[in-house]
This record gives sequence, C-alpha cells and structure tokens, in this order.
Amino acid sequence: MAMRAYFLSCKSLEFCQSRRLKFLRTSNRTLNVLRKFADDRPAVILGIETSCDDTGCGIVDATGKILSEVINSQHLTHLKHGGIIPTIASNMHRQQITTVCEDALRSANLKLRDIDAIATTTKPGLALSLAVGNTFGKYLSRIGNKPYIPIHHMEAHALTVRMVEKIDLPYLVLLVSGGHSLLAIVENVDKFYTLGTTLDNAPGEVFDKVARRLKLANIPEFSHMSGGQAIESAASKATDPTKFVFEPVMMRKRDCQFTFSGMLNRTLKYISKQEKELDVDGSTVIPDVYNLCAALQISAVRHMCHRTQRAMEFINNMNLISQDKRTLVVSGGVACNNFLAKALEIVCLEKGFKFVRTPPRLCNDNGVMIAWNGMERWMANAGVIRDRDEIEMVTVEKKVPLGESWIERVQDAGIKCKLVKLKALLD
Ligand code: KG4
Ligand code: ZN
Repeated sequence: MAMRAYFLSCKSLEFCQSRRLKFLRTSNRTLNVLRKFADDRPAVILGIETSCDDTGCGIVDATGKILSEVINSQHLTHLKHGGIIPTIASNMHRQQITTVCEDALRSANLKLRDIDAIATTTKPGLALSLAVGNTFGKYLSRIGNKPYIPIHHMEAHALTVRMVEKIDLPYLVLLVSGGHSLLAIVENVDKFYTLGTTLDNAPGEVFDKVARRLKLANIPEFSHMSGGQAIESAASKATDPTKFVFEPVMMRKRDCQFTFSGMLNRTLKYISKQEKELDVDGSTVIPDVYNLCAALQISAVRHMCHRTQRAMEFINNMNLISQDKRTLVVSGGVACNNFLAKALEIVCLEKGFKFVRTPPRLCNDNGVMIAWNGMERWMANAGVIRDRDEIEMVTVEKKVPLGESWIERVQDAGIKCKLVKLKALLD
C-alpha cells in the first residue's frame, strides 16, 4: 500500500513537473545535434544530490567552473525531530526537487537543452531519498533527451577537489562525514581501493548525536549549526580540554578500520553523570560542555589521524605512489573541521605527503560535487548511459562499498604505527 502510494505520488509529481518544466524543454532533437557541431564551448553537466537530507543541484562545466549551485537543507526540520526521519526527508526532497533544479538552471542562465548530461546520486544513502533524485534525474534525462550518469556519493566526495586543483592520480583520500568514515586510494575516476572503513558509527554521526544530547542548539550561537560545527565551535571555548579522559582507540589493531562507538558512549556517560551530580534540568546545558566537546574532538581527531598515518605507511612501504606524488586529500562534511585539518597537516609533513583539503564549502553534500563527478565520468566516457531503456532501469542502492576492498591487505601488512606527536596542536 505504502509502495503504491509512493509510486502514485511519483506519477503525479512527474505530471506537475512536466507542466512546470515546459519552458525549459526543447523537444527538437536536432537542436542538440546542431549545437554539438556549431559551438565548441566546454561540456556542461547538471548534478542532483538527494542521498540524505539536502536537496542539491549544481551545474558545472568541463573547466571546473561552477555555473550554479542551489541547495535546500532540511537540517532545521530534522533538528526538531531529534534526527533524520527517512519518510520526512523523502517528502521534503519531493517538494523541493523541481524548484531546486529550476533555480539552478535559471541562475546559470541555461535551459535544459544547454546541458550535455544529467548526473544523479544513486548510491549509497537513504533509499527513499535517493529514489526522489533518481526519479527526477531520469525524468530530466528523458524529456531533454540527455545521457544519464549514476553517481556513487562517496566517489563524488573523493573527486570534488579535482574541480579546483589539479591532483595527480593515484592519491590517498580520507572521507569523513555524517554517514561514512573511510580511507581509500583513488586510482582512477572509476577505480578505488578501500583501505579502511568504520566498524560502527561515522564521526559526523557521533558529533551530531552528542550535540543533540548536550542540547547545544539551545545555545543561540550554535542553534543554526550542524552538530559537528557546533562541537568544533564549543571545543574552541574549552578552558581545560584534558579534563575528560578518553582511552586511545584500537591501538593494537594494525589496520585502517575506524570505530567511534566507544567515544560516543563514553561522552554520553559523562553527560549523564554530570547532569545527575549537578541536578541539571531538561533544557539546561551542563557546565563542562566546552571541555567535553574539546575532549571528544581530540579523541576523534587522534583516531582519524592514526588510521590515516597507517594508510600512508602502507602506501610508502608498498611504494604504491611515487615519492614525489604522495598526496592526502580530505573530504566529506567532517573535513570542514579546522582542528582535524591542522592535525592531518602535521601527519602529512612527517610522512612526506602533500596535504590537500577540499574547500570547506564543497565538503558538505551538494549538487556541484555530483555534477563534477558526472563531468569526470563524461570526460573519461566511464559510466555514461545513453540507451533509453538502460537509463530507465537505473535503480538506487542504499549500501554500496567504495571500489575494491584492500582492508585485508592492510591487515596482512601488520604495520605497527605510532601516531606522530600532535603536541603542537594540543598545547
Ligand atoms: O558530507 P555531509 O554533508 O553528509 C554526509 O554525507 O553525511 O556531512 C555532514 C556531516 C554532519 O554529521 C556534520 O555534523 C559534519 O558533517 N560536520 C562537521 C563540521 N561541519 C559539518 N563535523 C565536524 N566539524 C565541522 N566543522
Ligand atoms: Zn556526504
């Protein structure tokens, strides 16, 4: 019944969209063909992102120029519900997707006929949310007679930086967000080797949960921030970041796997303990909030640095990337964290890697990164679907690993790794 209602609403959505988007459409197929021969302007890709709680549309050209970028964040709605509720997220995507894409085309001063291909996130993420983007992306591809490029969300995060900076392949990437934590080697646009991933939570998820439990949104200066942003800002006000002690994480495991559940539980326990001891009521924030945020941030950053350092040592020992080209890229929402960036920079310096940070404004989910991944695939002619029937068959997948797993290879290498001193940062 629920499925039926969903498909019925998709159909009515499509009907409304077909009327609203009439002005964007040029049904004349020959126009497209003529334009291809008549002008040699760089290719233009429209990207759609709806994998979680942001409805995003971005348009980029082959030179890496952002022609437009529109994002509708559901953050404040989900804050009220204490977390993302998938049905609410997908309904909001459905309400917003047409306007977001129309606005993107309008602000780029383009019509659908000017776009070379449609790229859409189809995996991994919330299935209901992904389905809205996929349905709409395929619809645009159909009415505009455009090729379709399904995009892996994490691949997009990993490649975004190449839009603004030329980085030689292969490179090491640390992807940290609200849904993921992984280390991978980017071998090519469609070839990735995962060295490690999280065994439980993602770091952004931990920051979001702790920020909610700490009621940081009740403090006006943090009220509009994401959990991670709020934790970082709160941590910067700490007077004694060492007041709370977190055990070092998985020191004996000689791999690049992550775990954040221990530090999450420990933080939640500290909060409950202080609330009980000091009789803190419902909406009040515990007095040690800043010190606790700082301690959690340090613990998470140390863990991310330690795993990243082992990935570097694995690459160095195996000589997987030539010495003069070793680069670490950090991306994903948590890469907005300045404390993490500074710590990674120290590790890079010690291990002979160039440190490249994806510009923070492109780290959080957005349509531009999807459009750019579409462009990389367009230029490499990898994963661009032109056949109509094949396009219609594209479905979404909520869980898909990034490329090939090299997790065991790293474990087998058994690299003992002593984290470089981050003292300069912690003092
Ligand atoms: O990449 P993203 O927009 O969505 C996912 O794919 O998950 O990442 C969002 C996550 C959220 O958990 C948010 O709290 C976290 O990134 N985040 C941060 C910061 N800004 C956003 N975490 C730590 N420090 C920040 N400054
Ligand atoms: Zn993301």
